[in-house]
Amino acid sequence: MLSKSQAKFFFVGGTLLFTLIFLGLTVDTMKKIPAQTNSENLTEEVKAGKKLWDKNNCMGCHTLLGEGAYYAPELTKSYERRGEGWLKVFLKDPETFYPGQRKMVKYNFTDTEIDSLIAFLKWIGEIDLNGFPPNHKKKAEK
Ligand code: HEC
Repeated sequence: MLSKSQAKFFFVGGTLLFTLIFLGLTVDTMKKIPAQTNSENLTEEVKAGKKLWDKNNCMGCHTLLGEGAYYAPELTKSYERRGEGWLKVFLKDPETFYPGQRKMVKYNFTDTEIDSLIAFLKWIGEIDLNGFPPNHKKKAEK
């Protein structure tokens, strides 16, 4: 049995120790974010793409980094999976590859807007996500 003062020491000491570890790990994570997100690649074009992504509620159907709605495909690795040329044609008219079948909205984006969206998808695909999404390469090969 711990005495009262030992129990107090155990509680205060333990809380302090783990608070310090928590703060240390938080600082460590914060330091890694610029490198993991390639923040130097956040160009005006990428930012414009992000704004279009928000304005047009792409997240109402899609997920990015696993966040969003599950109606349509996860797009974090869509640039890697499809390539720029495919995305350009698809965003211009989503029915191109699957006439009369597929259910993606046709937005009538300008070429500049499409380039911005693709730049945003490329940037997000290059973030170091510690392995997320799992097995995306295997899936793309199917
Ligand atoms: C109403 C739901 C909906 C919204 C909103 C939507 N999408 Fe989609 N999207 C889909 C569906 C469904 C598919 C799958 C279509 C297919 O495979 O033909 C798709 C497919 C895609 C793909 C191809 C994914 C792949 O690898 O096959 C891309 C890229 C894409 N959407 C981008 C966008 C962007 C950018 C926006 C916002 C500007 C957006 N989507 C908004 C429903 C939506």
